[in-house]
Amino acid sequence: MYRAPGRVNLIGEHTDYNDGFALPLAIQQGCTATVRVTDGVEIRVTSTQRADDPVVVPVAELGGVEGWGAYPVGVLWAFAERGVQLPGLDVRLDSDVPGGAGLSSSAALICALAAAVNDLLGLGLSRPDLVTLTHRTENDYVGAPTGGMDQMAALLCEADHVLLCDMRAWSGTPVPFDLGAAGLELLVVDTHARHHHADGEYADRRAACEKAAGLLGVAALRDVSLDDLDAALGRLPDDVLRRRVRHVVTEDARVLSTVELLRAGRLRDIGPLLNASQASMRDDYEITAPEVDTAVEALLGAGAHGARMTGGGFGGCVIALVPPNGVTRATNAVQRAYRKAGFAPASAFTVHPSSGAHPA
Ligand code: GLA
Repeated sequence: MYRAPGRVNLIGEHTDYNDGFALPLAIQQGCTATVRVTDGVEIRVTSTQRADDPVVVPVAELGGVEGWGAYPVGVLWAFAERGVQLPGLDVRLDSDVPGGAGLSSSAALICALAAAVNDLLGLGLSRPDLVTLTHRTENDYVGAPTGGMDQMAALLCEADHVLLCDMRAWSGTPVPFDLGAAGLELLVVDTHARHHHADGEYADRRAACEKAAGLLGVAALRDVSLDDLDAALGRLPDDVLRRRVRHVVTEDARVLSTVELLRAGRLRDIGPLLNASQASMRDDYEITAPEVDTAVEALLGAGAHGARMTGGGFGGCVIALVPPNGVTRATNAVQRAYRKAGFAPASAFTVHPSSGAHPA
């Protein structure tokens, strides 16, 4: 039985698939996978959240599952692709990560299952191996062209730390993130907004970055430095591509500046970087939503040190750094602004930097 967490990303959005930097933390919400070897020839997966929809597939034919079952079966497929001879398995899943909220409920699920199977079958794969395996599940089986930050967060995060993900090296380095010592809380506001074409928009942003990297003659946008940015922008043919590149290059720099401040014990000072990231996502990358921008404005108006959307975007969650006695004020300010704008109420909760996948 293993539990793996969901995540929020402190800063570094849409940088992972550009070989860049991201800075997620694991949250206390997660998915628990309980796995048992059976003497059958099937994989049977049930989920507390989908009690009436079990998935049963023969071990010998793991291909082609669609819908929610693609995630768990895709993990087992990835083990089989590595040459693992799977026995019949009974898999039970139970998650309290809200789905579709940009908190990586899917990474929590696949990473909990991968860690459990690795342990149960004594496979001895390292955490970085499991990152590769679960990233493969999502990209090659489920068909979501995601970048790898979420799987790294679910598998490598440590309590009281954020994880500096270097997505060229595929390495994760813990960086202290002691909210208590700084006298702050990290508030998550779930806007409940989700654009129905978000998946297409994600693929579109990724394609634009690859196109721009090709035009600039670099392997990935990670290779464009802040100093080179103006010259690079001057070589791009249209304004949309220029704005996409400006977001990625400045966002990478903001991640590294955030890490410097955290290492210097200056957590309180990262607010302006969070705000600059939000503006860049809103104006240059165009991945926020009216509900997101309204929540951010309300949070800053209520005294937050910084606020930004977190995750893939087009809705989902906003994070804000607030003093402990400012949580209620900040939450009320969002609800008031939502009523005024005619949006359905948001929900809000505080999160603590938690650890990656662990035995439950
Ligand atoms: C989603 C993807 C990640 C990353 C973020 C944006 O969460 O799964 O790989 O690209 O969006 O930063």
